Amino acid sequence: MVKRIGVLTSGGDCAGLNAAIRAITYHAIQSYGWQVFGIRKGTTGLITRPMEYQEMTVELCDSMMMRSGGTMLGSTNKIDPFSFPNPDGTHTNRSQDFSQGYRDLGLDALIGIGGDGSMRILRRLAQEGNLNLVTIPKTIDNDLGHTEQAIGFSTAVDVATEALDRLQPTAASHQRVMVLEVMGRDAGHIALTAGIAGGADVILIPEIPYTIANICKKITSLAKKGRTFALVVVAEAVKSESGVSMTVPQENGRIRYGGIGHYLGEKIQQCTSAETRVTVLGHVQRGGQPCSRDRVLASAFGISAVDLIAQGKFDRMVAWQNRCVTDIPIADAIDHYQAVELNDILVKTGKNLGIYLGEC
Ligand code: F6P
Repeated sequence: MVKRIGVLTSGGDCAGLNAAIRAITYHAIQSYGWQVFGIRKGTTGLITRPMEYQEMTVELCDSMMMRSGGTMLGSTNKIDPFSFPNPDGTHTNRSQDFSQGYRDLGLDALIGIGGDGSMRILRRLAQEGNLNLVTIPKTIDNDLGHTEQAIGFSTAVDVATEALDRLQPTAASHQRVMVLEVMGRDAGHIALTAGIAGGADVILIPEIPYTIANICKKITSLAKKGRTFALVVVAEAVKSESGVSMTVPQENGRIRYGGIGHYLGEKIQQCTSAETRVTVLGHVQRGGQPCSRDRVLASAFGISAVDLIAQGKFDRMVAWQNRCVTDIPIADAIDHYQAVELNDILVKTGKNLGIYLGEC
């Protein structure tokens, strides 16, 4: 019997999502003869009526699809089917509409590509609705447990590294300190990795406390040695020295990080007298063409997710471990928040390169 599978992308977009959708579509149709349905706007496509989806074809799977940023299916990081927003501002539990949509479309299984928040919701939907779910990890933050890499992380790191490559010559030309604020939510993976790759002098991540005095000491010591500029990378969730979280209030009660770069810029200028400028990199880390690593990872994940369905293995997330794709219970991935560990090789590397990484 021909199987019918669905695929959706949920949560913040990132580079590499289309490469995963392409691999799923191609492998499911070509290798197994299944039908593939792309669900639009995350879970919303199965909740609203008429449902929003498109049947995927092999013709769609050209290499342009793999090269393109964003997600061709659309996504959302604001919709919770268990508290779905109504036009009048109230909220309704629409989880049963989602399950009904899955059945109306005749799906045998669903592949959800998402981060920890999306996976938590998808897993609850699958359990309560008795749906067959397989997930693929994506997040520029790289904070999902038990996978060394999630789709989108490498591209975000490359973008942040390129930003440092571009900031360095202008910093040197004007004898400035450049502060670069990068994304990453509560994990410092982007800041740490890009900071090392981009030759930062100071890298601040949420996992390691710091002092303004020691940041300034580092910058002053560089100046004494004749260095006329300094590069500082800070992860968005780093707090002020006194522990205040820098967040921008949002209407829906969600927390959005932002402001630590400007806070640091002011403090550094005050205590070093060096002219300081701040760049907030923002969503350029998510958009644009995926780097080669994300294209390959997403392709490998897409193929393996389809194989899991063929084997009847559900409630599993594909994961990258030791240069292989393996699969683990979704619950294990979302229960383990993958922050930067203090014994991480990159922490050791940064410290031994003379980078000020905080008080560790
Ligand atoms: O989780 C991915 C991420 O890009 C974070 O790094 C960032 O804090 C957040 O999403 C931004 O979300 P939004 O696109 O809703 O502003």
